Amino acid sequence: MLQTISDLGYLKYYDKKILMRVDFNVSLSNGVIGEDYRIRMTIPTIEYLIKSGAKLILMSHLGRPTHPDSNYSLKPVAKRLSEIIPIHKVRFATDCVGSDVRKTIDEMQMGDITLLENLRFHKEEETNDPEFSKQLASLAEIYVNDTFSTAHRRHASTYGAAKLFDIRVAGLNVKREVEYLSMIRENPVKPFTFVIGGVKIKDKIGALENLLPKADKVLIGGAAAYTFLKAKGMKTGNSPIDNEYLPWITKALSRYREKILLPLDHLVLPYSISAVDSSSSSSLSASLVKADIPEGMIGYDIGAETMQQYSTEISRNKDGTIFWNGPMGLFEIGLFANGTINIAKSMALAFWRGSKTLIGGGDTLESMKRAGVSEREVSHVSTGGGATLRFLAGDEMPGIDILDKD
Ligand code: 3PG
Repeated sequence: MLQTISDLGYLKYYDKKILMRVDFNVSLSNGVIGEDYRIRMTIPTIEYLIKSGAKLILMSHLGRPTHPDSNYSLKPVAKRLSEIIPIHKVRFATDCVGSDVRKTIDEMQMGDITLLENLRFHKEEETNDPEFSKQLASLAEIYVNDTFSTAHRRHASTYGAAKLFDIRVAGLNVKREVEYLSMIRENPVKPFTFVIGGVKIKDKIGALENLLPKADKVLIGGAAAYTFLKAKGMKTGNSPIDNEYLPWITKALSRYREKILLPLDHLVLPYSISAVDSSSSSSLSASLVKADIPEGMIGYDIGAETMQQYSTEISRNKDGTIFWNGPMGLFEIGLFANGTINIAKSMALAFWRGSKTLIGGGDTLESMKRAGVSEREVSHVSTGGGATLRFLAGDEMPGIDILDKD
């Protein structure tokens, strides 16, 4: 069993420096933070450690910079954190290693919090460089990992530095994620409905492979659905097809025919658009087609009949588990958001009726909010994108595997 901060008890942290990996990789536009769910999810761990008398050093990445770049500075995140927990002082260090950082940390008092600057300003973070790991580890006495969403990365902050600590434990956010997602991966409460959308089949194939045998129903939407429809022998027009996965999907369809549901109708356009075209979306006019998609047409959302069928399936799930990953269409454009909104609302109803509902993937949380469904109307919202799918696929998770077990 994974050792968590509460297993060691309050006294362990008194007057100790704790280095805690968090995932503050939030959406940022002109210095303004969008969704701050990932920040809020670390608060229980931060408060536990601060109340225990720790000196807390937080480290994170933001985006994928390869060198220092003010557009990816974590400074706005330090500000947001101070607003969320105003009774605690949050300092910001302008780097994550080096003599200035050490000086800031040496001056910390019990109960202080310091957020280090973006780890990815040093390329050594992603290469898991031993010297960089050593520098990070030298900042503190205990290591805590409270990010599930980076646990699939073998980076210096998630793995290399963690390895150098005698005590390396999971935070409360990681504990909650591992408990919920292990339930789905190992033994989902039945009946189990898996709703899967989004674009890239490559990212989802492992989770599908693992969960298809356990699921009672698998509802497929999003661009991924067109490859399934093609494998079934349907016409998909000019919709995107991932040929590499056609053989796997053909086999899955023949083996699990009764449990896999595919779209019955589609909203289509005769040309290609992307999420960034949303400004011109008011002039769009889509057609509804049933079954086959004609040549020259591209599917962008599930149609009304599919929505009805998927909602009915979700409402049939009584007291079981429903896991949803990925939008049903190009939901950033209002015209193609209805399929996704419909799933979000059906998930909320299922939650109120007593099913365990879980969602994973950044887009899924965003689309749920767009539907006016709050994160409190779901049993669990995973902070992970790729990490959640990798965990469900049973892949290696270096950031969790390196933590202490009892
Ligand atoms: C995520 O957003 O999924 C995590 O923060 C990991 O980010 P990465 O894919 O850039 O490593």
